[in-house]
Amino acid sequence: MRRPEPRLQRKLLAWLLGPLAVLLVLDTGAAYWNSQRFSNLAYDRALYEIGREIVLHVKLDGTRPRLDLSETADKILLQDSDDRLFYRVVSEDGTLLGGDVDMPSPRVAETVKSRFYGDVLRGEPVRMMVARMPISADAAAPLVLVQVAETLNKRTRFAWEMVANVVLPQLLLIVMATAVVWFGVSRGLEPLQRLRRAVSDRSHLDLSPIDTQDVPGEVRPLVDEVNELMARLGRTFDFQNRFVADAAHQLKTPVSGLKAQIELALRESDAERVRHSLAQLYISADRLSRLVRQLLSLARNEPGALDFMQLQPLDLNAHVLEISMDWVPEAIKRNIDLGFEGAGHPLMIDADRDRLRELINNLIDNAIRYSQEGGRVTVRLGQSGGDQCRLAISDDGPSIPVQERTRIFERFHRLLGTQEDGSGLGLAIVSEIATLHGARITLEEDTDGVGNTFSVFFPLRAV
Ligand SMILES: Nc1ncnc2c1ncn2[C@@H]1O[C@H](COP(=O)(O)OP(=O)(O)O)[C@@H](O)[C@H]1O
Ligand SMILES: [Mg+2]
Repeated sequence: MRRPEPRLQRKLLAWLLGPLAVLLVLDTGAAYWNSQRFSNLAYDRALYEIGREIVLHVKLDGTRPRLDLSETADKILLQDSDDRLFYRVVSEDGTLLGGDVDMPSPRVAETVKSRFYGDVLRGEPVRMMVARMPISADAAAPLVLVQVAETLNKRTRFAWEMVANVVLPQLLLIVMATAVVWFGVSRGLEPLQRLRRAVSDRSHLDLSPIDTQDVPGEVRPLVDEVNELMARLGRTFDFQNRFVADAAHQLKTPVSGLKAQIELALRESDAERVRHSLAQLYISADRLSRLVRQLLSLARNEPGALDFMQLQPLDLNAHVLEISMDWVPEAIKRNIDLGFEGAGHPLMIDADRDRLRELINNLIDNAIRYSQEGGRVTVRLGQSGGDQCRLAISDDGPSIPVQERTRIFERFHRLLGTQEDGSGLGLAIVSEIATLHGARITLEEDTDGVGNTFSVFFPLRAV
């Protein structure tokens, strides 16, 4: 994770330096070609002058031309500090008048005008001048063929010097551009480095939002998203912390109760009393197991569970009827008249089947549990408005006071004086599951004046 330099910086530099390097290579090639042309232009002239000078030394011996070049003149003419010079003069009938015998014959058609080309003399590359020149200004003067060759040392040097003159400033420019980009990008990325430090220096428990004050605009959305995620994580942590604390607190008392009862039973010797203790123990264990189930259900249905829900289209009418049927034996046991008034047609909603069952079970359980003996519990279904359906469960229990109507949905909240067993988690679970389904719950006094009506409004599936 920790890199000496950010990848962005390298990427930018690669994008900048790559094309520049290609340009530099092309430019160097062009410059070399050009500078060779220029150096030839400059030095070819001198080569021509030497040729003319040599021809001035050709004299007419009767009708035959003869080269009369003294050794000193030869030396002066062909002297050069950098290169070696060679020449050859041939008369029109092909007789060699003087100069180097090894000189290769011209590769181009010789003309009165001088011509230049590259050739090889004794294995060495040379620049060659060839021309046909009259030996004097006299119009009838015979022509001679003169060749002058020169090694390439100063031409090459001159060409490279010119290349260097062109390329070096460009190289300097590239180096400077690299430095400027490196520095500029480093400065530009400084806020990102600060951001990275701000995140890496954090404790894993610190989920407060990252300061977006001097975050560059380009990464601002990313930081906002991260902050949003941290906020969600924070809510989940809070929920879980609260849950663990609640669970520990709620389980402590029943578990110590169980232990005490077991100790008591162990001390009993009378078989009948042991049996009685065991029966008590069974009830306590059953209560504890219900509490654990509800705690788990609460954890399972926390707000973040939305991502793990398996919503599928289902007919609420049929689903509720099926669940209500399961409650008939329990209702009969408690002498409760459990009634079902269906909608008469399917009510299609998107729901998680098992979670929905848990919601309905909790509501019917409460209605039966808290209704008085011989009371009446009615489960009703119907359409409500164009896009909602309503599940209403009415009972004959004690009316829940208006000021308690929101509080009973809180965890562990029970009405004072409630005799029945319970943990106070049922309605909290109902409320969580309703939220997961985008449903809304209301609680009113029953229309017949006795008991309560819990209504859950589900959004109908769009057809
Ligand atoms: N149908 C009802 N009639 C009267 N009181 C109810 C009804 N449903 C719930 N309550 C009250 O609300 C409290 C919370 O209910 P709930 O969350 O299901 O927990 P529990 O049933 O475990 O006590 C109950 O203890 C009871 O006092
Ligand atoms: Mg309950």
